[in-house]
Amino acid sequence: MAPPTVCRILQFMLFSCLLEAGASAGSEAIPGCQDKCGNLSIPYPFGTTPECYLNKAFLITCNKSASPPQPLLGRGNLVVTNITLEGQVEIKQYIAADCYNASAQRVSHNTPKLWASMFTISNDRNKFTAVGCDTYATVKGVRGDGNNEYFTGCMSYCTERDPNGFNNSCSGIGCCQIPIPSGLKNITVSVSSYNNHTHVWDFNPCSYAFVADETKFTFNNKSFDELKNIESLPMVLDWAIGNETCKVAEHKPDYACKRNTICLDPANRSGYICKCKDGYYGNPYHPNGCQDINECKNSSLHNCISESNCLNTPGNYTCSCLKGFHGDGRKDGTRCTRNELNVIKISIAFSLCVLVVIVGSSWLFFINKKRKLLNMKNKFFRQNGGLLLQQELHERNASTETVKIFTAEELNTATKNYDESHIVGRGGFGTVYKGTLKKGTEVAIKKSRVVDQSQIKQFINEVIILSQINHRNVVKLLGCCLETEVPLLVYEFVSNGTLSDHIHCEDRESSISWVIRLRIATESAQVLSYLHSAASTPIIHRDVKPANILLDDNYTAKVSDFGASRLVPMDQTQLSTMVQGTLGYLDPEYLCTTQLTEKSDVYSFGVVLVELLTGKTAHSFAGPEEERNLVSHFDKSLRNDRLFEILDEKVAKERAAEQIQEVAKLAKRCLSIKGVERPSMKEVAQELEDLRKLTCQHPWAEVAVSMEETQFLLGQTFSVSTYVSN
Ligand SMILES: *[C@@H]1O[C@H](CO)[C@@H](O)[C@H](O)[C@H]1NC(C)=O
Ligand SMILES: *[C@@H]1O[C@H](CO)[C@@H](O)[C@H](O)[C@H]1NC(C)=O
Ligand SMILES: *[C@@H]1O[C@H](CO)[C@@H](O)[C@H](O)[C@H]1NC(C)=O
Ligand SMILES: *[C@@H]1O[C@H](CO)[C@@H](O)[C@H](O)[C@H]1NC(C)=O
Ligand SMILES: *[C@@H]1O[C@H](CO)[C@@H](O)[C@H](O)[C@H]1NC(C)=O
Ligand SMILES: *[C@@H]1O[C@H](CO)[C@@H](O)[C@H](O)[C@H]1NC(C)=O
Ligand SMILES: *[C@@H]1O[C@H](CO)[C@@H](O)[C@H](O)[C@H]1NC(C)=O
Ligand SMILES: *[C@@H]1O[C@H](CO)[C@@H](O)[C@H](O)[C@H]1NC(C)=O
Ligand SMILES: *[C@@H]1O[C@H](CO)[C@@H](O)[C@H](O)[C@H]1NC(C)=O
Ligand SMILES: *[C@@H]1O[C@H](CO)[C@@H](O)[C@H](O)[C@H]1NC(C)=O
Ligand SMILES: *[C@@H]1O[C@H](CO)[C@@H](O)[C@H](O)[C@H]1NC(C)=O
Ligand SMILES: *[C@@H]1O[C@H](CO)[C@@H](O)[C@H](O)[C@H]1NC(C)=O
Repeated sequence: MAPPTVCRILQFMLFSCLLEAGASAGSEAIPGCQDKCGNLSIPYPFGTTPECYLNKAFLITCNKSASPPQPLLGRGNLVVTNITLEGQVEIKQYIAADCYNASAQRVSHNTPKLWASMFTISNDRNKFTAVGCDTYATVKGVRGDGNNEYFTGCMSYCTERDPNGFNNSCSGIGCCQIPIPSGLKNITVSVSSYNNHTHVWDFNPCSYAFVADETKFTFNNKSFDELKNIESLPMVLDWAIGNETCKVAEHKPDYACKRNTICLDPANRSGYICKCKDGYYGNPYHPNGCQDINECKNSSLHNCISESNCLNTPGNYTCSCLKGFHGDGRKDGTRCTRNELNVIKISIAFSLCVLVVIVGSSWLFFINKKRKLLNMKNKFFRQNGGLLLQQELHERNASTETVKIFTAEELNTATKNYDESHIVGRGGFGTVYKGTLKKGTEVAIKKSRVVDQSQIKQFINEVIILSQINHRNVVKLLGCCLETEVPLLVYEFVSNGTLSDHIHCEDRESSISWVIRLRIATESAQVLSYLHSAASTPIIHRDVKPANILLDDNYTAKVSDFGASRLVPMDQTQLSTMVQGTLGYLDPEYLCTTQLTEKSDVYSFGVVLVELLTGKTAHSFAGPEEERNLVSHFDKSLRNDRLFEILDEKVAKERAAEQIQEVAKLAKRCLSIKGVERPSMKEVAQELEDLRKLTCQHPWAEVAVSMEETQFLLGQTFSVSTYVSN
């Protein structure tokens, strides 16, 4: 249940309780006490018995022998006609009269006295009045505690009954009136005449005087006759509790003001009176105190649109203009009038509009930002040849499923933001980082060095080529990431560096043995053979060199760097392209004719074989002039039958002269100037495989293991300014 509903129910329950309490306090007398005497209701603190009044000042004696029963103040004979809780009591007060007969003899005369020791005569409600055309009257009294004597009077004179009825005013003609001072407790009123009404006897035989509620007597030309027939007029007495001020009394145990009341100090008299707080009603002296007014039940007490919009609260109410919208319920204000409701409606509508605008614009902002980011990613994707790749893959019916698309974040975390410490190599057109994917897989990430459209083509080319190849001796492409500014390729990580590292190392002893060299040569030849013939479309690697042959921990060859490779359609045996490759390994025929054939790879492989045999680099700047170009040096040595002089120390040590000679012959055929004279890669692979079988007697113990493993994935491309043709 919603909290506001609970609140409403609790409020309703509370209100019901108060209603019941209020019902028992309706008579305003203490339960079980006589609350009426004749017509008079007797509210507490007044009462007829000691249990029913506050103290004996508030005793009301009910004279039941009179009919109707007469309430009397105290034990005296003052007849009470009204008691108000605002601190006043109305009593009947006798009129003083002095009457004469036609022979100017006094026939009646009285001087009534009033002694109300507990109460004072209200000076704001009562006036001293004398009526008659030959009249003077006095009032004598005592103020305060009885030491201040008070004596005053007035006289009135007239000669005739005024035809205008004395203008209804008591101004000294037939009637005189004076105010009385505050705090009067004890008065004696007397009246007399100067000439025994001799001259006015025919219309005014009597003089009258009284202290009375000024609102209950209006002088006019009928007053002479009316006063003849009545013996009393209402007079108002003030009453209060005790003789102390609120401040003193409120700390006393007999403090008379109960719940929901305030205490008032009346002016110019002692004692205090109690009053219900605003919003409460009832008898402030009653033990139950004052009760909450349910303003909502009375439309003149609330300003809400309707009772259903009004919520009663203790001592007040609130207007609910709309559901869940509470005003402060000002009584004087116009809260929740129709106009205000419209204002509220308009402001709510306005707020909603503002909200919609804010939400809408921020939504647009985010959409725009997202689109910008997407645009940038798309831009990079296009720029990085993503479309080209998609198109190529589509044309070749290769699914992208085998090539995973990595996100930029994934590779960022894998390489710790391409930290320097993760660099494992710097290739021809990029840097290679070692990374660890979330699953723990080690990968090599190739990052293009510059964003150059031609290099991008090479990247895409590599992706396309590698997606076609599935061979254990080819570095496996795991995926790529084209969302970044420079495209990224992700490969399996090959742990043992390049063949170049292992045969060109300074420490000859730690270089790899002939047995392994031969196996690597065989595996590489098989890969090239596979690329040339076995794959669906022949692939020319174009950059065969030891730096592009990677080795794993078991010295298994993994051919890499297919950036320059070309797919050769089946019906074409040669392809005209821009010369590309690494100097020292380039097929001289291709260099001259720019006709690319599979035999170009054969030539390059021949150079690799020579390198395996000699441990020398294809082109070196050291040594004598004739030794700088390895191929021509090898060719010369072979012709002069001095092969064993140029062999690698490690190779020379091994007793495999026959094999070495055969491999050297094979290499020489591969290095034939004319492509047609070179064997095919298939033949090369077969011959090497056959030669290997002769080495089976070699124990594995002789396998040299490089102790200083430098882990490179992709070899360096040597940039040589001049090409020396053999
Ligand atoms: C009492 O009340 C009735 C009617 O309410 C009125 O006629 C009558 O005069 C009253 N009596 C006294 C003594 O005030
Ligand atoms: C009570 O009323 C009767 C009849 O009016 C009267 O005779 C008697 O004096 C009154 N008693 C008092 C104490 O006023
Ligand atoms: C008593 O006095 C109050 C206030 O002056 C007045 O409203 C009420 O009508 C009076 N009651 C009688 C019965 O005269
Ligand atoms: C007036 O009163 C006196 C004394 O009470 C009496 O002697 C006289 O006869 C009265 N006069 C008239 C006209 O009644
Ligand atoms: C007025 O009345 C008083 C008392 O009745 C009497 O003593 C006096 O002589 C009268 N005066 C006149 C002028 O009649
Ligand atoms: C009292 O005054 C009225 C005018 O206010 C007048 O009409 C009427 O006759 C007068 N009554 C007597 C008895 O003089
Ligand atoms: C009543 O008013 C009229 C006109 O204003 C005036 O002439 C007359 O003297 C007044 N009478 C009294 C008794 O004040
Ligand atoms: C009240 O006044 C009368 C007459 O003036 C006097 O006898 C009486 O002692 C006074 N009472 C008080 C308490 O002053
Ligand atoms: C106040 O009233 C008490 C009794 O109610 C009385 O003993 C005391 O003298 C009074 N004090 C004054 C200042 O009237
Ligand atoms: C109260 O008494 C003071 C003087 O004691 C007087 O100035 C003032 O007008 C009186 N207030 C009332 C309401 O009688
Ligand atoms: C109700 O509360 C309002 C605002 O707090 C206030 O202005 C008003 O006077 C209160 N009304 C009552 C009857 O207390
Ligand atoms: C409503 O309140 C007004 C003002 O207090 C009152 O005069 C009226 O009698 C009340 N009406 C009801 C039905 O209680």
